[in-house]
Amino acid sequence: MIDAGSVETALRSALSQGLIRQEDTAAIFYDLSFLASRIKYLTSCFPPATLHGLAIKANPLTRIMELMRGFAPNIGVEAASIGEVTMALRSGYQPDHIVYDSPVKTFSDLEFALKTGIHINIDNLSELDRVNKITMAGSCTMSGSAGLRINPQIGLGTILESSVAGEYSKFGVPINFFREELEKAYLTHPWLTGVHLHVGSQGCPMHMLTDGIGVLYDFVADMNRKRGRIGFPSISVFDIGGGLPISYQSATSPPSMDEYVRKIAERAPMLFDPASFKLITEFGRWIYTNAGWTVSRVEYVKRDPAINTAMIHVGADLFVRECLNPRDWRHEYSLFDQWGRLKEGTDDHPYNLAGPLCFSGDIVAKNVLLPRVEEGDYIVIHDTGGYTFSMWSRYNSRQTPRIVGYRADRFEILKERETLEELQGFWR
Ligand SMILES: Cc1ncc(COP(=O)(O)O)c(C=O)c1O
Repeated sequence: MIDAGSVETALRSALSQGLIRQEDTAAIFYDLSFLASRIKYLTSCFPPATLHGLAIKANPLTRIMELMRGFAPNIGVEAASIGEVTMALRSGYQPDHIVYDSPVKTFSDLEFALKTGIHINIDNLSELDRVNKITMAGSCTMSGSAGLRINPQIGLGTILESSVAGEYSKFGVPINFFREELEKAYLTHPWLTGVHLHVGSQGCPMHMLTDGIGVLYDFVADMNRKRGRIGFPSISVFDIGGGLPISYQSATSPPSMDEYVRKIAERAPMLFDPASFKLITEFGRWIYTNAGWTVSRVEYVKRDPAINTAMIHVGADLFVRECLNPRDWRHEYSLFDQWGRLKEGTDDHPYNLAGPLCFSGDIVAKNVLLPRVEEGDYIVIHDTGGYTFSMWSRYNSRQTPRIVGYRADRFEILKERETLEELQGFWR
């Protein structure tokens, strides 16, 4: 988490260097050194041959994807659509560093993926049939590798919309209901050498993630014994998905990556034997979220008898989850004056941070304790580096903000503020 003091240093520097112009009513910042250190730490926790497929859905900015690739040789991406696969290829990722997950791949998506040589995680048994049909028709061969997504059915976390390993899930093949079919799939497809799971994201405690891995680890051990007997190659690609939670509140400490890896190794020791398994990870939130913050100028302040409202320039367009499900998604907020100086203290009444969109639910946070807010101040919403800009909504046609990266006091524009022409182009 980047604290208010560090944000103040960067914000004052950005303002003095003219990076937040009059038209930049809001902007998103990324601490690029933080991202580099995240990758260094992540790669030090896992065996060197692990492929870290960073979840593009958490942060699809081209420039960031390019930078991440340069931070370590085994950095790849996890793509949730053919659009994301294409973006990855164009950002310089080699096909064998791209993992393709989607629960609704069409025939042409699959043909493209098979020809390109990326790793495909097949979501369900009907998709497995499609892959068979395509390869048997001879229009393309399996030039990469493939796994099957299995739902270990170990339960739900505290946030329903980001829990995908309950009894029911729209993702994967549920192991308890379809064990026989899964066995058949692995014992009739020699090329099916991978397994994939993703238990969930924020809201899933660490033991749920390791429980899920444990269920698949036992299944794979059984399958490999049986595959060995019929001369099939072992299942050797084990994709553990992402999901390690992070903290949005400085008072709480999330599990650490090295602790997670230790727990996986206790439950599934052979996964760390490079002669037996190639590991894939798909972290998104853990990589990106704490590296970014969003700043908005306060345009107006409304002072009702019991509550104040700070009218800001980002709402449910940038903070979809926060506005629609505020119980589960709350950030920390800091206030700065027009020169970027941190304001201290607490006003008599709390503040609602209200966005610019035309619906009453467009409130980024309610009842926030802040110093006295004035027009022209800057509100910073912390920890917005993941699943924030990637979820941008076009409702009310607001221009997307300028996005800036920094290392100490050196800044780089990662994406320019959208022009009115570009905005109109979206609807044309
Ligand atoms: C298949 C898959 N892999 C990886 C991720 C990334 O999860 P997280 O950002 O929680 O690490 C997701 C998130 O939705 C996912 O669906």
